[in-house]
Amino acid sequence: MTPTLTILGLESSCDDTAAAVVRVSEADGPQILASVVYGQDKLHAPFGGVVPEIAARAHAEKLDICVAEALQQSGLGLREMTAVAVTAGPGLIGGVISGVMCAKGLVAGANLPLIGVNHLAGHALTPRLTDQLSYPYLMLLVSGGHCQFLIVRGVDDFTRLGGTIDDAPGEAFDKTARLLGLGQPGGPAVEAEAKTGDPKRFALPRPLLDRPGCDMSFSGLKTAVLRTRDQLIAQHGGLRRQDRADLCAGFQAAVRDVLAEKARRALAIYAQEQPTNPALAVAGGVAANQAIRAGLETVCAETNTMFTAPPLALCTDNAAMIAYVGAERFAASMVDDMTLAARPRWPLDQTSPAMLGSGKKGAKA
Ligand code: KG4
Ligand code: ZN
Repeated sequence: MTPTLTILGLESSCDDTAAAVVRVSEADGPQILASVVYGQDKLHAPFGGVVPEIAARAHAEKLDICVAEALQQSGLGLREMTAVAVTAGPGLIGGVISGVMCAKGLVAGANLPLIGVNHLAGHALTPRLTDQLSYPYLMLLVSGGHCQFLIVRGVDDFTRLGGTIDDAPGEAFDKTARLLGLGQPGGPAVEAEAKTGDPKRFALPRPLLDRPGCDMSFSGLKTAVLRTRDQLIAQHGGLRRQDRADLCAGFQAAVRDVLAEKARRALAIYAQEQPTNPALAVAGGVAANQAIRAGLETVCAETNTMFTAPPLALCTDNAAMIAYVGAERFAASMVDDMTLAARPRWPLDQTSPAMLGSGKKGAKA
């Protein structure tokens, strides 16, 4: 019988400082005893994007406050933890170092085991924390910093079937919002505008659908929005309300179509290894988009695939997912020591070629 594990998790790889306590027991499965997230939106807003140095400093200031709050919420002391798990990458290096150093201080002080966790594994294993989904399943990570299809077979066993070769979809939503004079974060603003728009008025591209495979590209789509916007301004002397709504609807439909078609292809590959009871899980901020969700749900219905999306608070960055991966790693004796290093790049699937470039939220993994 597996003993009950109580893990303190820390997350600081991008612009959220988070700490959480997760308990995993045979009788009750995983339970989130506490989850605290401090966002940094206000600090970065004047700069139009995440400033790594500001992020790192804010993490360093907030991490111990966050840990104290999470422990208090859980009603437990540090010494009652089985281990401390911390995001050791990928992400903005200053933030990751802040988290790893904080975790090392905690384990040294309380004489606890230390577990380094890949941030993307946190997202990828969230459906196990929320729905106890069994391995293997197909995962679509789709946020402001990430976009990839993964077959998830185990805590350290991932195959990437494809990912974006340039912008992540959330990044494209944010840039589109900026181009059209809408507020940030762009995703919810574009989705709201799209509600009254005609998605068919502008012929926006569906990049890479003409090529085989599951890789995606979203930067050309954003450029097409820019060009269409400039044409409209030249014609009418400005952007009319309906133009903006139609452009938002057209852009959103293009992202939906690309993700749905690539999901169909990824499901076909994954079905070769899992022909019965296949499951597609989605996580990341963009998973909040109703049109995109509906597109993915349609593909799942067509292919008899179970569709699952964690609650939004666990789709976006948090430390409960890191603590949960910590529990699975601890159970598999994957424990680190004080030599644990912060890694700005850390692909989940070591056998796939690295993704190129750098997203607005740091290096792509
Ligand atoms: O997962 P997340 O909170 O942070 C990381 O990127 O790690 O995702 C944030 C991204 C932003 O780019 C935001 O514009 C996008 O998710 N987003 C959405 C929606 N809500 C948030 N994109 C499209 N539709 C939405 N409703
Ligand atoms: Zn993330």
